[in-house]
Amino acid sequence: MGQVTKDQRKTWESIGEDDPYCGTGGPTRVVPKTGKFAQPDSGLLDVIEPNTTLLDVGCGYGRNSVPIAEAKKAFVVACDISLNMSRSVRERHLPFVLCDLRKLPFRRSSFDYLVCSVVLIHLKRIWIDEAIAELKRVGKECLIVMPNPLGRASLFGFIPFLVGPVMWIRRRGNSKLPVFSDIPCPRGYLVNFYLPWMFRSLLENHFESVTPSYAKRDRVPHPYMTDRVLYICNNSKGPMG
Ligand SMILES: C[S@@+](CC[C@H](N)C(=O)[O-])C[C@H]1O[C@@H](n2cnc3c(N)ncnc32)[C@H](O)[C@@H]1O
Repeated sequence: MGQVTKDQRKTWESIGEDDPYCGTGGPTRVVPKTGKFAQPDSGLLDVIEPNTTLLDVGCGYGRNSVPIAEAKKAFVVACDISLNMSRSVRERHLPFVLCDLRKLPFRRSSFDYLVCSVVLIHLKRIWIDEAIAELKRVGKECLIVMPNPLGRASLFGFIPFLVGPVMWIRRRGNSKLPVFSDIPCPRGYLVNFYLPWMFRSLLENHFESVTPSYAKRDRVPHPYMTDRVLYICNNSKGPMG
């Protein structure tokens, strides 16, 4: 493992070890050790066909891997950069691989689906393209869930627009990064806020078709108004092409 991967791994290992909530907070706080999980991204369950193969990249404590394996009778492989974060997945005996998503140890198109939920937001901004290319290489269909900085949970943009400049001022002098890039958070990980249409166009540089959808059923009229957007990414435009 390179030094950068080691540092990233150390951060997540210590969150998984020291924080009983595994980095979660507020109304979505979970306690994986006691079996208290947050709801899965139910939009994934609507899209995934039964009896398929699936790789959950950055699986964490298994919020999505475990329900997908159970509800869809899918063959789920979970992977993560941290053993501590993924302890509850391994305790459930799901096949697990310790790896960095930028170098997945799988062949091209190994899985029918690749799920990557709330992970890319924590990746350094300069790695995002390389990471998306790697996800595309391994999954036939990629289901990428990203928190929406304009959603209700982010107070419709208020939190990112406050946190970005505050952290930027605090690290002034040792960072040439733009205000909303690689924002360090108190728990040790970093965050990048992507506006949904901008993230979609990043994905469109790699995939032939990208369809934004609801990560969770919601009454709002457009996925870009929800807390999390599910991007359904394919390499073909489907039967109507
Ligand atoms: C916020 S948690 C999300 C967990 C889970 N996907 C979910 O939606 O609940 C982010 C997870 O990504 C993992 N992670 C962070 N960087 C990673 C990387 N470069 N490669 C693989 N996993 C990574 C962390 O260890 C952590 O478990």
